[in-house]
Amino acid sequence: MDPSIDQLVAVSIKEFADLPRIPFDLYVRLPNGKFLLVIKAGMAASTRRLSSEAQSHLEEVWVRKTEYRKFVTRTVHTAQTFLAGPPHNIPPKSKASILAMTANSVFSEIERFGFSNESYSHARAITNSIVKMVDQKPELSHIMSGLTLSQDRLVDHCIAVSAIAAMIGRELNWQKDQTIEKIALGGMLHDIGKKELSPELLNKPRIDYTHDEVIEYETHPYRGVQILQSVSNIPDDVIAMVYEHHENSIGQGFPRRLREVRMNPLARVVAIANAFVNLTLPNINLSKAKSPLEAISYMENVQGRPYNREAFLALKTLVDRDHKNKKVKVS
Ligand SMILES: [Fe+2]
Ligand SMILES: [Fe+2]
Repeated sequence: MDPSIDQLVAVSIKEFADLPRIPFDLYVRLPNGKFLLVIKAGMAASTRRLSSEAQSHLEEVWVRKTEYRKFVTRTVHTAQTFLAGPPHNIPPKSKASILAMTANSVFSEIERFGFSNESYSHARAITNSIVKMVDQKPELSHIMSGLTLSQDRLVDHCIAVSAIAAMIGRELNWQKDQTIEKIALGGMLHDIGKKELSPELLNKPRIDYTHDEVIEYETHPYRGVQILQSVSNIPDDVIAMVYEHHENSIGQGFPRRLREVRMNPLARVVAIANAFVNLTLPNINLSKAKSPLEAISYMENVQGRPYNREAFLALKTLVDRDHKNKKVKVS
């Protein structure tokens, strides 16, 4: 019997590559609202063929809810294999957008089915690819330029925070891969608590918030902690990064107004990466995104640099190097 809409989940065609042997059934929605099985598990899929079956330009395909996790596992695995294998000359911009697209599937998985061991291992797989990308020493602005394309700004934001935090960690000469992987994971998951806030609140500029809305917004770090605690083996550092990513050195952050001395060392880095990305990627609170150089100057001269000193200087070095490299290429 054909499945009904409540048994299926829509998947954007952008998340879906033309690959041999898709391990699950795929459906398209016909103009009459019914669903048609177009690819049986084990068959090759092509987006062109799907569009012709649906007799229209196709934006999405549908998978059974029970097979959705399999879909995400396949997507994450494909992205990992693609980014690790030849050709090794994939530009950082493309790598960053592939990672954002993959993270989009994982965030949807968390939204639909809650945070679980599986979604945790998917998030770890993505952050391992982010660390590999960072270790090839890409320029910061090349990564950022690949992160303005996705439909979901929160996903782009989280991938950017993850990558920038890992870059700062390496610039600080943190040698242990485990530490860099943890910081990338903290960056990726830091705003997971926003998944529980209403889209109306998230799409409203913070300057227009009422008092109650500010209180509601400021619950997202703690909500994030609660979401992560549903899985047993999350490192304490990752929990701390989620909880403390809006704290700052002078004790004027939220939710606990911690001073730097009481902040987790990895959270200090994620907090600065978060502030930087909030200034440089388009978002509802910015009339115009700043260049990396403008953002550093703003953090220093307007915000008064309420961040960890070493982490700020490491970020500034990354931005300056990026700017010099660009100038050399132009001249
Ligand atoms: Fe946040
Ligand atoms: Fe954030």
